[in-house]
Amino acid sequence: MRGIVPGEFIEEVLNRTDIVALIAEYVRLAKKGQRYVGLCPFHQDRSPSFTVSPEKQFFYCFGCGTGGDALKFLMLRENLTFPEALERLADRAGLRLPEIRGDAAAQRRRQEREQAWRINKTAAEFFARQLRESAGEPARLYLEKRGIPLAVASKFDLGFASQSRDGLLRFMRGKGISGEEVLRFGLAVRLESGELIDRFRGRLIFPISDARGRVAGFGGRALDDSTMPKYLNSPETPFFNKRELLFALFQARQAIHETGFSVIVEGYLDALTAHQFGFCNVVASLGTSLTREQARLLLRHTSTVFIAYDSDAAGNAATLRGLDILQEAGFQVWVVSLPRGKDPDEFIRGAGPGAWENVVAGALPLIEYKTIHLAGKGIDTAARKMAVLRAVVPNLAALPTAAEREEGIRTVARVTGLNWEAVRDELDRFLGNGQKTWLKTSKTAKNKHKVKNTTDAREKAEAGILRILLEEPGLLARVGEGASSELFSQAQYRRIYLALRETAAVEGLRLPVLFSRLEEEDKSVVAALLSEQVPEDAEALLRDLINVIQVRERRKRRQELLLELSAAERAGDVQLTRELLYRISALIMNGKEGC
Ligand code: UTP
Ligand code: MN
Repeated sequence: MRGIVPGEFIEEVLNRTDIVALIAEYVRLAKKGQRYVGLCPFHQDRSPSFTVSPEKQFFYCFGCGTGGDALKFLMLRENLTFPEALERLADRAGLRLPEIRGDAAAQRRRQEREQAWRINKTAAEFFARQLRESAGEPARLYLEKRGIPLAVASKFDLGFASQSRDGLLRFMRGKGISGEEVLRFGLAVRLESGELIDRFRGRLIFPISDARGRVAGFGGRALDDSTMPKYLNSPETPFFNKRELLFALFQARQAIHETGFSVIVEGYLDALTAHQFGFCNVVASLGTSLTREQARLLLRHTSTVFIAYDSDAAGNAATLRGLDILQEAGFQVWVVSLPRGKDPDEFIRGAGPGAWENVVAGALPLIEYKTIHLAGKGIDTAARKMAVLRAVVPNLAALPTAAEREEGIRTVARVTGLNWEAVRDELDRFLGNGQKTWLKTSKTAKNKHKVKNTTDAREKAEAGILRILLEEPGLLARVGEGASSELFSQAQYRRIYLALRETAAVEGLRLPVLFSRLEEEDKSVVAALLSEQVPEDAEALLRDLINVIQVRERRKRRQELLLELSAAERAGDVQLTRELLYRISALIMNGKEGC
């Protein structure tokens, strides 16, 4: 795209962007001389090593070595491609991307979409105001009944549509927006008589926005349980597609980045309640089973998800399929089990936030959850056991590393009572059959297996990272993003990594220089690494490998803490129990402040 968009345009966008103001939206900055400093958003920074230079319009982190201009910052922080980051910055600067081809249809679609956002925003403002005015009394009472403070309602821009037949239509007309337009964007309906009336009447309104906070449509909840449907949503239009939206993603983005994972719930209220109690990385799937589009959307922000559906919904076929889709998209998927008949909203309000932290910490890996669930329907005959096995084999095959697959095989064997070899044979047969269409392992996931054949996934990931860095030292900054040398549990790998880092920093990476800095035994490891092939998409693989390590670290620490917790509970040590619960939740929330 750098080639297609004129260089002057990129320059113009950068000229009109104040990098300090941009970064200040993500990082708390303090002025220090000519520069600004803050905690680096790209690695676990304890002291402020992140600097922004307004003069050079550049950022740099002394801790992890990440640096660049405003575009680079957006790309890294929001996981955007170059064109996406450019578009975003251009938007911010009030510039329009030059139309690359005079595609009139595309231009019209774009204009329509922008109009939909504009009209929805106006409607959202109207609804929000009504919630606060005297007409909003019934909705405010309802919020009170559900335990939702007005401040939380505000965070989600909740509103109220009164019983009036045409309150919104009249308001819109006053703004110069015709009834036909209100109809076209799904906010009015036409009666048989031809008359237009408001679509939403007597309902609590949930605006549904995209990841950037632009309102795509609405969900309206009835204020009593006799009105049907319980939720009335905007109709599906080219501008409002439930399959492509996640409720609360806009509000959750920051927390998802901070915690490194997201929790998906079913309902608007479930997400809202989670946020109210400080669990701000929660998004809702709008009652549909999860789609590929939603997975792709979320994958921009994290690759670890927890599913917390109502207990009756979690095991149904559509939901299980949704879980497969998430795994297929490249997520590490965990399933939270809630007590029967409870949804997250009821559970958090009833059992308290601590109990919620506990059920999240106790989530099962997808493979284990699915096996237990299917086995629960009966595995009294060999045929039934095999049916369960065949249902979960694609999930086994999709696990990214050999070690994870081994662990998965053990789980399936343990739950079904089949022996280990039978499970492995079935997996081999599945992999050998080329039946990879149902749940295909992603390209990067498969490439991982080319990297050094060691038994331990963690060690293998470390070796893989080194191998890539030896080939492309330019990616060193990427490693800094996650953590730095703590990434390497193997002392030898850590030594090599540090030597590599120092060498690359001083004189670019030259192998003879690197070798001169290494012990004999380390040299041979480097030589062995160099003999491995590096896949083409090294950068994506690198990200995956770092993720493997981080997920394992978190899981390990969580398991240690959970063991301590059960010991403390057995010993009846209330003080320690509370402290451990706090630490486990801190681990899950990863030091996140209230939101
Ligand atoms: P639920 O029936 O679980 O509702 O539907 P809820 O979110 O728990 O709401 P409360 O607590 O009863 O008020 C889950 C989600 O399914 C969609 C909505 O997105 C809802 O949040 N849904 C449900 C609809 O779109 N229409 C409906 O009629 C029902
Ligand atoms: Mn509910």
